[in-house]
Amino acid sequence: MKMLQESVKYVLDKIKEIPNVAIILGSGLSKLSSEVENMIRIPYKDIPGFHKSTAPGHAGELVYGDLGSKKVLLMSGRFHTYEGYSPAEVAYPIRVIKAIGIKRLILTNAAGGIRTSFNPGDLVFITDVINFSFKNPLVGKNDESQGPRFPDMSQSLSTKWMEESNRIIEKKFKSPLEEGVYLSVLGPSYETPAEIRMFRKIGADMIGMSTVHEVIVANHIGLDVMGISCITNMAAGVLNQPLSQEEVIEAGNRVSKRFAAIVKTIVEKTC
Ligand code: HPA
Repeated sequence: MKMLQESVKYVLDKIKEIPNVAIILGSGLSKLSSEVENMIRIPYKDIPGFHKSTAPGHAGELVYGDLGSKKVLLMSGRFHTYEGYSPAEVAYPIRVIKAIGIKRLILTNAAGGIRTSFNPGDLVFITDVINFSFKNPLVGKNDESQGPRFPDMSQSLSTKWMEESNRIIEKKFKSPLEEGVYLSVLGPSYETPAEIRMFRKIGADMIGMSTVHEVIVANHIGLDVMGISCITNMAAGVLNQPLSQEEVIEAGNRVSKRFAAIVKTIVEKTC
C-alpha cells in the first residue's frame, strides 16, 4: 500500500491531471504514442515500485498527453510473467492506474490467430479470456481496501463499452471489428500445433502471453476494461510455416496506423 502511494504520487506530480483513460500498448503497437501531443514521458525505471520491461518491442515508459481532445496515459511496454515477474508484479501498474483516479482501461496485445478465418493484421475485440497460465495475481492475503477475496469475472471485459465502440467503428470505418476469446499462456516458447488444436476445441480464438492477469486485477479493483488484440500471426500449425518474434513486431508495425485511428476514435467518442 505504501509503495502504491509512492508510485501514484510520483506519476501525479508529473502529470498533474487525472487522465480520461489508460491504454496499455502491446508488442509492436507503441507507435500510438507518437500521436500524443503535449507529451510527458515517464520511464518505468524512475517510478517507485515499477520494474524495467525487458520484452522486445516494448519501450518501457508511461506517456501522458492529449490524444484528440482527451487526456490519456499510455503504458508503452508491459511486464510479462515469462520475464520472471510474478503475476502480481505484472498487474501492479493496473493498481497504480486505478489509484491515480482513472476509471477506464484499454488493454491491447499482439496475439496469434487460432480462428482460421482471422488474418494477420486483424484487430479483434476481446469478449472474454481463458487463464491458461494457471497462476493468479490475487493469490495470497487479500487487501479488502482493494477489492473482494473472490471477484466476479462473469463480465470481465465491458460488453457495453465494447458494443458502443463497435457501433461507432462500424459507422466510421465501414466495418466493425471482429470479436473473440483470448487465451493466455505463460510462454516464452510459442505453442505446438497440438496445443493450438486443443485451445481451439476449448473455445479460444486468439492466443498470447499477456493481458489476463491485468484483466483479473482490473476486476478486483473495479476498473472498466476493454481489450483489443492485434492478430500478428496465425498460431502454430494453422499455416505450414514457423513463427518468429520478427513477424509479430513487423505485423504490429504494419497495422499501427489503423490501430491508432481506431483507438483514437474509441477514446474520442467513449472516454
Ligand atoms: N502465441 C503466443 N503469443 C503470441 C503469439 C502466438 O502465436 N503471437 C503473438 N503473441
